[in-house]
Amino acid sequence: MTKPVIAIDGPAASGKGTLARSLATKLEFAFMDTGALYRATAFELLAAGLSAKDKSDAMDAAKILVKRIKNAENPQDVLENKTLREDKIGKEASKIAAYPVVREALNKLQRDFAADPGTLYKGAVLDGRDIGTVICPDADLKLFITAKTEIRAERRLKELQSRGIAATYEAVLEDMRERDARDAERETAPMKPADDAVIIDSSDLDAGEMLEKVILLVKQRLTN
Ligand code: DC
Repeated sequence: MTKPVIAIDGPAASGKGTLARSLATKLEFAFMDTGALYRATAFELLAAGLSAKDKSDAMDAAKILVKRIKNAENPQDVLENKTLREDKIGKEASKIAAYPVVREALNKLQRDFAADPGTLYKGAVLDGRDIGTVICPDADLKLFITAKTEIRAERRLKELQSRGIAATYEAVLEDMRERDARDAERETAPMKPADDAVIIDSSDLDAGEMLEKVILLVKQRLTN
């Protein structure tokens, strides 16, 4: 019998990552942050002295990453690198994510994870931009988490400041608008809610309220 899958999509700083992690813990589901795959690919590329300009370099970096994850004793270790959270890496990740060849190189790993999250887990939660539309179109529950751009920029600014990184609200807002546009307007697997996704605006909700709301949905949708 296949295990249930929850797909969570949405833009940067919408609260989807925090929600996905806490939901997975609560439900004893395995969790995959698929943005980290794109970030780690961008990191590999930059570490090799290359840039997001060349799609075949980006594809090679994605393939190398997939091999490293498959060979790692604990695959999560490859993706838990703090540098991956830097905005510079997020921006490069968004650029290479527009290349179909990069997406193809990363898709199977995500689908395999959703299909078989491992014996320790009761299901899988994946968060990203195209989980409900492309990676897991048959997911048992699809969520699209959003929030006003200004609120997301404020959240990101606070996060950067708490890590001692200097930034201004205006610069963060501009970066966010640019990244949203790139992710939503690309031709392949653009960020958008699946037709059957539940859309949640997190602008006025804290993490606890979001989790509570989603647990209710899970109870309605995932229990037979
Ligand atoms: O969620 P994040 O900020 O870590 O994602 C970084 C970038 O990776 C994001 O701007 C677009 C890309 N991405 C994607 O195209 N598809 C996904 N499923 C996840 C992330």
